[in-house]
Amino acid sequence: MKNNHKIIAANWKMNGSEELLKEFSQFVRAKHNDIIICPPFTLIDSAKAFLPSFIKIGAQNCSEEDKGPFTGEISASMLQEKNVSHVLIGHSERRILFKENDDVIFKKAEAAIKSKLTPIICIGETLSEKKSNETLKVLNYQINGSLAKINRCEKVIVAYEPVWAIGTGLTPDENEIKETHLYIKTKLDQHFNADTPILYGGSANAENCSHIISIENVGGLLVGGASLKTRDFTTICNC
Ligand code: 13P
Repeated sequence: MKNNHKIIAANWKMNGSEELLKEFSQFVRAKHNDIIICPPFTLIDSAKAFLPSFIKIGAQNCSEEDKGPFTGEISASMLQEKNVSHVLIGHSERRILFKENDDVIFKKAEAAIKSKLTPIICIGETLSEKKSNETLKVLNYQINGSLAKINRCEKVIVAYEPVWAIGTGLTPDENEIKETHLYIKTKLDQHFNADTPILYGGSANAENCSHIISIENVGGLLVGGASLKTRDFTTICNC
């Protein structure tokens, strides 16, 4: 059975090309799921030009500042000028490699909302946190620090990405996904007025997408590596 109306988001990270955009635009067809492609900043204009209009464009990061002496940074209002509709905030690569903490992530989410972008706020535990049975504690901490301070009327998307599942070919089992997504949903429902979609991310691929997306409280997928393979990603978009 097809899953109705889920969100399939692609995080291209520091990859991709105009050729990949052109190739993907030839394969993809509008179906039941919402598709969001997040290419590197430099490909945003090309994504607008080459992809069909039913595909939404997202960015992978934005500054918490609006403008000023912040060499190399890009603000949410600059993304808004490019007609970007979504922005990934607090991906674990940014948390770990660029030392972004929950307070910065909250400020970035606020900046995105102010510029009418929907933030896709990423949370998830590391392998050592999982091994010490701290998964729910970490999610609680991340939600309290980065999401619970956002105005309850705002629309956000959350992506649950266990850090140990990213790029490893490993995924949590069904019960683990059920448990974490229910936990996140319960916390978000206490805070936000509207239903907040909760995406799963981490080694989602053309083989496991239908199963993962059918698990209770999984509102869609955030896909890394498999989103760079046109045929695989087309399959995922249609799952
Ligand atoms: P992979 O799908 O390559 O595991 O990456 C997931 C991810 O980090 C998406 O943001």
